[in-house]
Amino acid sequence: MYPLRRNRRLRTTPAIRHLVRETIITPSDFLVPLFVVEGKGIKEEIASMPDYYRLSLDNLEKEVKELWNMGLCAVLLFVKVPERLKDNKGTEAVNKDGLMQRAIKAVKTACPEMLVMTDVALDPYSSYGHDGIVGAGQILNDDTTEVLAEMSVSHALAGADFVAPSDMMDGRILTIREALEDEGLVNTGIMSYSAKYASAFYGPFRDALDSAPVDKINVPKDKSTYQMDSANRFEALKETLMDIDEGADIVMVKPGLCYLDIVREIKNEVDVPVAVYQVSGEYAMLKAAVEKGWLDHDAVMMEQLIAIKRAGANIIASYFAKDAVKLMG
Ligand code: PBG
Repeated sequence: MYPLRRNRRLRTTPAIRHLVRETIITPSDFLVPLFVVEGKGIKEEIASMPDYYRLSLDNLEKEVKELWNMGLCAVLLFVKVPERLKDNKGTEAVNKDGLMQRAIKAVKTACPEMLVMTDVALDPYSSYGHDGIVGAGQILNDDTTEVLAEMSVSHALAGADFVAPSDMMDGRILTIREALEDEGLVNTGIMSYSAKYASAFYGPFRDALDSAPVDKINVPKDKSTYQMDSANRFEALKETLMDIDEGADIVMVKPGLCYLDIVREIKNEVDVPVAVYQVSGEYAMLKAAVEKGWLDHDAVMMEQLIAIKRAGANIIASYFAKDAVKLMG
């Protein structure tokens, strides 16, 4: 009872605040998304993601060495595929000499201990900008999961430690797990985007990879027949538990900040690590406000990252990873 318990005693100095702090962010919390392009010497800034770049393989190698030296030891790879290699079947996605497959090898050569995760979905390879194969105005579920399984095996053979299916087809975790087991790739993990919402926060990412759904007759104009409705909470748990049953080693909630209630809900229910993806739109919002002089970049960034971890994230995929670690000193 007051005045015996004065809560402010625990806030009087930096030392006591530090001693009683419940949530601490460290470099090992982060998964760093990286965008890869063909070419040499390329480091091009993404228009809607200030200070974030598409890298050619030589610069990718430099970048992962730098990340490793900063204590960042896990990356999540995405590739920007030239338009002429796109089709409706993901043919290029399973090319063993494709950009993703070469990128995995480049990272492992430059930095063998770096944990490499790869995005598995068809959108960067799709002439329609969808995560799956389009047929009769729909995204064909079971045809797509077969390609995703083949793609996963191809990434694993190139050296990926984890595949990260981001497509939200039904049953894809089981199909991928079985395909990996059949190939003897028993140690390749699966980080499933389990509760991935049909979100408007992915806009800048689609600019980065030129992967937005195209506006064409008989092509769904958005991803709402496979990604989740942002209004749904219980469905997130159902999706996540099913993915764990099918063999997911890590589950993910995406986007981050608007969905921290979902993160906590899932964290309370599951016994596997929970990842959160702080997505491109979240990054862009803060950068834009900072450009206007309206928010303090470092303070808001750290507050957001701590909120994500406090909500229950064991792993944070974030474009702010480097900035945050620099701040940790
Ligand atoms: C591809 C994929 C997307 C993101 C990650 N993987 C885009 C989408 O689903 O349309 C978004 C990441 C971000 O916005 O930072 N399936």
